[in-house]
Amino acid sequence: MTEIFLEDVAKTFLINGAILPVLAGLTVQVEAGEFVSLIGPSGCGKSTLFNIICGLTAPDRGRVMLGGRDDVPAREVVSYMPQKDLLLPWRTVLDNVILARRAVGREKSAVQKEARELMPLFGLTGFENSYPAELSGGMRQRVALMRTVLAHRRVLLLDEPLGALDAITRTRMQQWLLEVWNNFKQAVFFVTHDIDEAIFLSDQVYVLTPRPAKVCLHLTISLPRPRCAALLTDPAFLALKKKIMLALQV
Ligand SMILES: Nc1ncnc2c1ncn2[C@@H]1O[C@H](COP(=O)(O)OP(=O)(O)OP(=O)(O)O)[C@@H](O)[C@H]1O
Ligand SMILES: [Mg+2]
Repeated sequence: MTEIFLEDVAKTFLINGAILPVLAGLTVQVEAGEFVSLIGPSGCGKSTLFNIICGLTAPDRGRVMLGGRDDVPAREVVSYMPQKDLLLPWRTVLDNVILARRAVGREKSAVQKEARELMPLFGLTGFENSYPAELSGGMRQRVALMRTVLAHRRVLLLDEPLGALDAITRTRMQQWLLEVWNNFKQAVFFVTHDIDEAIFLSDQVYVLTPRPAKVCLHLTISLPRPRCAALLTDPAFLALKKKIMLALQV
């Protein structure tokens, strides 16, 4: 089943009377349970595309189908972790992660119980009652990710969820993210600037041009799973990396 199908999606913004073409007709497909990455230069329109998928921004043209339909509200299908983590500073970790479930009317004690059981998987045991300001950057990202996963939608949109981390923490978090993905089997559409990360995590990678963005390369990554760090020096991995570097002209 196709969870996200975008066909010829285009968007232009008007900034102080000037026309800014951002998306120049993108066609992208994410199948159920797949991990798909989107990589492209800063400012090319990746977050704009996510905003269009979840209905926050209207496209100028093109088609957006979620779960095979174009008439379902995005919130029924996708859960969005925006680029900037939007944790509520006045709520504890536990209260932050259960927000989405509470918003759809689930009973508090049941969602709290589920969240407590999942704290070890997200490395947050012992911090249930801490406030966001008391956490490290990596922990805050895990809280934001846990909230997104716990919404129990079929698709997760993750906009640079590991962006603020140092290289060592990031590599560990990539492995961990694959564990979480294995656990929940949701489709993931993932924005990153990091070529290794895109290949390491994904089943498919879409590479975008600078603004106005077009898909300049679409790769299927058929490297075996589970994936481990040794893969980063594998010739097949390096060949894929070279293709993406050429497409990005880096
Ligand atoms: N609501 C808006 N109104 C006007 N312009 C916007 C709006 N949202 C985004 N833009 C412009 O669209 C372009 C693409 O922005 P976007 O945030 O989608 O890029 P991005 O690929 O996510 O960049 P980054 O990798 O830095 O996060 C930018 O030039 C930005 O200024
Ligand atoms: Mg962005």
